[in-house]
Amino acid sequence: MNRKGIVLAGGSGSRLHPLTLAVSKQLLPVYDKPMVYYPLGVLMLAGMRDVLLISTPRDTPLFAELLGDGSAWGMSITYAIQKKPAGLAEAYLIGADFLGSSLPCLILGDNIFFGHDLGPRLRKVNNRPHGATIFAYPVADPRAYGVVELGAAGQPLSIEEKPAVPKGRHAVTGLYFHDQQAVDFARQLAPSPRGELEITDLNRHYLNSGQLEVELLGRGDVWLDAGTHDSLVDASNFVQSLETRQGQKICCPEEIAWRQGWIDDEQLARLAHRQQQSPYGAYLAGLPGQSGI
Ligand code: G1P
Repeated sequence: MNRKGIVLAGGSGSRLHPLTLAVSKQLLPVYDKPMVYYPLGVLMLAGMRDVLLISTPRDTPLFAELLGDGSAWGMSITYAIQKKPAGLAEAYLIGADFLGSSLPCLILGDNIFFGHDLGPRLRKVNNRPHGATIFAYPVADPRAYGVVELGAAGQPLSIEEKPAVPKGRHAVTGLYFHDQQAVDFARQLAPSPRGELEITDLNRHYLNSGQLEVELLGRGDVWLDAGTHDSLVDASNFVQSLETRQGQKICCPEEIAWRQGWIDDEQLARLAHRQQQSPYGAYLAGLPGQSGI
């Protein structure tokens, strides 16, 4: 499927001050890697090799220093600036030229996904040519999120942004597969009361025209957003526990690129060598010797 990915890594990160006074939230560590690796890894798992990263005027050069042009991972990564945090849907206005006639997928730079079979499920959604697919995840308190109300057959009935009285417990995660209509829908949006072009309003366009599908993430899946001091530590602890126990990394872009066949053993060895003083580099160096996934 000809789909391009957009990672939105903007915002002021004010809930994380003073951590984010000098550096973007999405560059902060989540255990052993920068936060932005996790959403990037999700796009890569879904099969996207062409990615636009959108960030602030201050932080975009840092992302470029970290990720380069993507060629080391067999990808193309380009950059664009969001001048002010004017809403998630603005990513489609900023990214319109980048997308051209490709289908878009938008992921938020602070969203962390993990689950058994996540890759195959993402690839299935990636192959849907029409309409929109969002991912819903049950949370104890959905009031801080977009909330999707689901009918008996799991079909979406309504979608609201940060409702005071949620109609259900399914939060809408920050991963959105859209079709080519998304840019036009984004152009039609008016700013919400908080002054932003809301992705929830864009998704409501799809819902109202019967084109919104919901993929349910369940008990065996993990969705974390690392936007507060506590959730940042929680995310790090989660990744540390699992990686240490299993000896496998979560959302390691070099590994995903290698397993997807985008880079060969020699390119992987070069990436490992660059980071050879760290356990991360040692992990990369050991991958070709392992059997199975
Ligand atoms: C944004 C979206 C919200 C979604 C959340 C997921 O919220 O507006 O619908 O549930 O991301 O992380 P924000 O991060 O802008 O508060």
